[in-house]
Amino acid sequence: PVNVKKICCSGPTCAVIALKCPHIQVTIVDLNQARVDAWNDADFHLPIYEPGLEDVVRHARGRNLFFSTDVDKGIQDADLIFVSVNTPTKKSGVGAGFAADLNYVELATRRIAAVASTSKIIVEKSTVPCRTAESMRTILEANSKPACRFDILSNPEFLAEGTAINDLFAPDRVLIGSLQTPEGLSACESLSQVYANWVPKDCILNVGLWSSELSKLAANAMLAQRISSINALSAICEATGANIDEVSYAIGCDSRIGPKFLKASVGFGGSCFQKDILNLVYLSESLHLPEVAAYWRQVVEMNEYQKRRFSKTVVDTLFNTITGKRIAVLGFAFKADTGDTRESAAITLIRDFLSERAFVNIYDPKVEHAQIWQDLQDASPQQSLQQLQKQVTICSSAMSACKNAEAVVIATEWKEFKNINWELIYAGMEKPAFVFDGRLLLDAEILRKIGFKVVVIGRGERL
Ligand code: UDX
Repeated sequence: PVNVKKICCSGPTCAVIALKCPHIQVTIVDLNQARVDAWNDADFHLPIYEPGLEDVVRHARGRNLFFSTDVDKGIQDADLIFVSVNTPTKKSGVGAGFAADLNYVELATRRIAAVASTSKIIVEKSTVPCRTAESMRTILEANSKPACRFDILSNPEFLAEGTAINDLFAPDRVLIGSLQTPEGLSACESLSQVYANWVPKDCILNVGLWSSELSKLAANAMLAQRISSINALSAICEATGANIDEVSYAIGCDSRIGPKFLKASVGFGGSCFQKDILNLVYLSESLHLPEVAAYWRQVVEMNEYQKRRFSKTVVDTLFNTITGKRIAVLGFAFKADTGDTRESAAITLIRDFLSERAFVNIYDPKVEHAQIWQDLQDASPQQSLQQLQKQVTICSSAMSACKNAEAVVIATEWKEFKNINWELIYAGMEKPAFVFDGRLLLDAEILRKIGFKVVVIGRGERL
């Protein structure tokens, strides 16, 4: 195996490699000058918010961690290159709405082939459909210089936003896929040695390339499937008077099921779950496996149903109309501890409220206002920004968002929503004042004592 000394990558994962491996020089490259400047910012205003990331950058930046726009130099110097670029769902063409757009992967691969003058290990880190490594290999081999050898590995990312740094420090497993040839296995060993600087050997798994690529899609599909399953049960709870938290707890105690990822919610969001499942659906269809495709597609459909069901509950409860009423939506991110809004359930809920011609006040502690406007515009393209701004107000605190509102909707499980002064909120609201807890976050009994009418997802009890 190659003794890796220099790594080039895009994306912040490798910052942790730099921290844990002081003997390896890590260069994070990005064509966007503003982003690189932000990474190099003297006051550490980094381009993404992720708990713990700043500490990692403080320790390693300038020591063996560098940020640069010089992509070509990064490629030339490195023995090992991580390709982690976006693979969004295709918007048009074959497989639109399902298949992954591999344009960025291909562009990055071609760039490596054009620039590299020595042998490299190329690590595919983006989530890609099964057999993408094969296409990368074909491109690299067709374009490489005579003395250059490229070994391709798949090393999918399993980290979740908000806990990314901890997930990287103590991963459940590191998965490395390679061709099972002597060269493939040797490249795999080179990358394993990098991780072995902080990850126990037993947690570093070596599998075939295709298994590794498929495992990433499968892991996300299985996780999302747990949420859709529990959300499907939450509908039954609401109709029967059972309590979804009790059901989750009871089934999670079965060690074969386990307690994690069983929290009912207003619907899952994030950049991965829906995208990866749709990818799996597309893959299944391409392989002429329509039953398999339909099975996984249902996980996404259940999620859409859950969001629709929740906005309908809000309308039904507010005496079948929310026209002209003010609704405060607390939380806009797709989950707590992130400023990311991709596929956030809040977007769908607010779109529904707006189409009922309600006024909506939004507060989120981390999401940029410009992002909220952008997401709302994308969700209702027929509305102009001016129209939106008549109906929507973005507020700077939960308190101001709830002022004069008829209902509060908890869309993201930010901890601070537990600790706001609900008595004061109540005093400022129209009566009857409603709370719709889409995240099982608040203590409904305490709110009821204050005077609120409370509706909680997965609970069929009285208001
Ligand atoms: C996910 C995977 O967890 C991670 O392994 C993968 O690498 C990327 O995709 P992420 O999208 O960051 O990570 O968030 P995650 O914590 O998995 O949450 C996804 C969504 O599910 C969120 O909207 C969250 O609120 C929701 N969720 C999660 C639930 O509704 N209930 C749960 O019990 C858990």
